[in-house]
Amino acid sequence: MLRNIKLHVEADYAAMSKKGAEIFAEAVRAKPSAAYGFATGSTPEGMYAELAKLRAAGTDFSQMTTFNLDEYYPIKADDPQSYYFYMKQRVFDPLGLTKTNLPNGEAPDPEAECEAYENKLANAGEFVMQILGIGNNGHIGFNEPADRFVCRANYVPLAPSTIEANARLFDNPSQVPRHALTVGIHSIMMAKRILLLVSGAGKADILAASLQGDITPSVPASILQLHPCVTVVADKAAAAKL
Ligand code: F6R
Repeated sequence: MLRNIKLHVEADYAAMSKKGAEIFAEAVRAKPSAAYGFATGSTPEGMYAELAKLRAAGTDFSQMTTFNLDEYYPIKADDPQSYYFYMKQRVFDPLGLTKTNLPNGEAPDPEAECEAYENKLANAGEFVMQILGIGNNGHIGFNEPADRFVCRANYVPLAPSTIEANARLFDNPSQVPRHALTVGIHSIMMAKRILLLVSGAGKADILAASLQGDITPSVPASILQLHPCVTVVADKAAAAKL
């Protein structure tokens, strides 16, 4: 493992969630009003629940500015499948956050929305930590496997493997949105620290390929090998191939 990558292997999902929350909360206590990046998906749900417990125990998250990685497009914010809805329920309200940002899935022009989001990120000030999950295909945000890394926020078709993976969360696979707005690789790499959470045997191969394989846009998370400060919190099953 490269020296810039610190690995915590935890017994199971619950322990991973707790460890991730401890690391994140410690960063927020040190820099309460800086900018932080959030991810959605199944992986960080447990960590977000742990953060709510830390808030109840006295950690103040309310000063942070937050940026989410991505949003489906098109989707209404009040659609229960939107990432805005996910965040409001699991993070924004439970942690008392008000300075929150997500790409707008209702924007009339998706390309212009990406440009606007990119500008907001550029003016965010100190960007302390980006939380990430990893797709089964190695995507980070919705930067899907491709033949080049895309730096800027962009409007993307979702890979068939992502549509298949996310179908579990919808009543019917045909309901999975086919497009999304995502930050680009540059914004992720600009965070001072990356906190990557990974859980389950199904992610073991892609985690090993990302951290120990070639750096290639066909495995977007492999770019993290070039980031100066990555903390990976994985459960045993996900870390099995490292
Ligand atoms: C979500 C995101 C995605 C997920 C990835 C893993 O905002 O950016 O890259 O982190 O698809 O999703 P889960 O955690 O559901 O396996």
